[in-house]
Amino acid sequence: MAKKVLVISSSLRNNSNSEILAKQAAKGAQDAGHDVEFITLKGKTLNFCKGCLACQKTMKCVIRDDASEICGKVGNADVLIFANPIYYYELCGQLKTLLDRCNPLYPSDYKFREVYLITASAEDGDEVYQTAKCGIQGWVDCFEKARLVEVLSGGGLSDPADAENSEAYLKAAYELGKNV
Ligand SMILES: Cc1cc2nc3c(=O)[nH]c(=O)nc-3n(C[C@H](O)[C@H](O)[C@H](O)COP(=O)(O)O)c2cc1C
Repeated sequence: MAKKVLVISSSLRNNSNSEILAKQAAKGAQDAGHDVEFITLKGKTLNFCKGCLACQKTMKCVIRDDASEICGKVGNADVLIFANPIYYYELCGQLKTLLDRCNPLYPSDYKFREVYLITASAEDGDEVYQTAKCGIQGWVDCFEKARLVEVLSGGGLSDPADAENSEAYLKAAYELGKNV
């Protein structure tokens, strides 16, 4: 059955490695017949969550910026694929900010059930992306109907567009999307 797949790329740089892999995942999902939407956080205005918790009653954020529209799309997707550049062994700030700003979804009848994470980092090795994985896992754990299905970590990707030269990562990202 066709699923609504939302791919969110959070790197702000041109020729981003995580975005290249995210696009491959989107292509895989499209080729599998899913309804795919790709969003980049580039050019978006995302302010920090103020922690007022008004959204827990109103299901809307008091801040007027681009997060509200993205949050709505997150809530309506069946599958979420987040792409994240590793910054100091962590999720990048812009993705963390978006996750916080999705707090209006917490009391809502959100639809997503499966979540995937794609990371890009200069170093290679399991320890490089573990904290980012924990960050996403913590967010997913709060949405009890959802689960973190898979993390694809692209290690050894330093300069912009390095991912273009990695057949193995491109294939893995495509397969991730194809198998959502
Ligand atoms: C602020 C900052 C912090 C970074 N921290 C790490 C790090 O802790 N470990 C690592 O392997 N690479 C680190 N990098 C390198 C990026 O993860 C790497 O260049 C990656 O390809 C970026 O993904 P992108 O091309 O999708 O933006 C850092 C880069 C920046 C700009």
